[in-house]
Amino acid sequence: MLDNNLKDKTIVLCVCAGIAAYKSVEVLRLLQKQGARVRVIMTQGVKEFIGSLTFQVLSGNPVFTTLFDKGEDSSIRHIEWAEEADLVVIAPATANIIGKIANGIADDALSTFMLAVKCPVVVCPSMNTYMYENRAVQRNIDILEGDGFTIVEPGTGELACGVTGAGRFPEPRFVVDRIINCLSPKDLLGKKVLITAGPTREAIDPVRYISNHSSGKMGYAIAKIAEFRGADVTLISGPVHVESPLNVTIIPVLSALEMRDAFLSGLDDTDIAIKVAAVADYRAKQTADHKIKKNDDQMIIELEKNPDILKEAGMKKKHQFLVGFAAETRDLVENARKKLDAKNLDMIVGNLVGDPSSGFGTESNTVTLFYRDGKKESLESMDKEQVAHVLLDRIMARIRER
Ligand code: C5P
Repeated sequence: MLDNNLKDKTIVLCVCAGIAAYKSVEVLRLLQKQGARVRVIMTQGVKEFIGSLTFQVLSGNPVFTTLFDKGEDSSIRHIEWAEEADLVVIAPATANIIGKIANGIADDALSTFMLAVKCPVVVCPSMNTYMYENRAVQRNIDILEGDGFTIVEPGTGELACGVTGAGRFPEPRFVVDRIINCLSPKDLLGKKVLITAGPTREAIDPVRYISNHSSGKMGYAIAKIAEFRGADVTLISGPVHVESPLNVTIIPVLSALEMRDAFLSGLDDTDIAIKVAAVADYRAKQTADHKIKKNDDQMIIELEKNPDILKEAGMKKKHQFLVGFAAETRDLVENARKKLDAKNLDMIVGNLVGDPSSGFGTESNTVTLFYRDGKKESLESMDKEQVAHVLLDRIMARIRER
């Protein structure tokens, strides 16, 4: 998650009386880390779980709990806060508040405030599974969704009440991601983006394979940010251990041949194709049906070349904006330019792997963008999500120039 995504944004965090209320403290902290100014509204009931002082001290603002506070101008605070908010998040949202908002009831500070809200609202339902599955609750959630509220689906697992099922408060960073998503400009709306990520795995026998160190983090970051910015994203992913971005269609593959099929069949329908995957250049000519036994001192595996997927795509491309990645250990400029031409790309992103701030498995990346017209742009070392933002900025600028 990038820092400073919510700089200068005012966010109102509404906390309801659920056992997960303590987790909203973490949401508050993460929002602040992203640069947001946070104000907190609590229902009366939540005071049984957590004191308002915690939120007051951490947010640096008075906490709004009742319409009838004796303090300064509290009688209009619900209107002022609603007017000044860039986004409202209700976390945890109980069945009670969901029902009240869905039906326009205003009988306390929070529900009255909600009637005056005009900005985007993120709702995190969090309750016992039976309550969550209750038809009235589901009906009310549907009403909120229909009214344009963003619903963050609760997690599934063992709940505080001992029941196992849906209703868990989601990971706080996940909630904050949804908030950043809501507030991101949707400049990629209507664009179909096809991304490949991770390594490929070329089987030698049922237990062994040839692969590489690609973690998939860069490709996943681009998929996530493209979705944030409104794109319709498909991610063809080799085997990785990265959290799947929400609302992205993921096609899992193992080998280069599987990746080729998935990529080429999605290409026609795509506006922007970004091939980040580290595809194995060779595969075993023959895959043994059974585990190969240890015999001689030496063993020779015959390899054959995998298809160059991007080159094939470059030959087939029509309107698509095609981007490749070049991970090199030396001669970056020369190798990247060669690939750009050979594969008929619009852009290639070069990075030197092996450096601690760049490449496989790292959180940050130091890349140089090479363009078809011979221009290049070296970016400073930055978080992979930041790289994704800059990359998408540049792609969109080039597409607009066409
Ligand atoms: O030629 P090289 O493998 O270094 O090129 C890297 C770029 O080409 C990456 O974008 C990678 O995803 C893509 N590639 C491919 N098919 C291959 C090898 C690489 O699409 N067989």
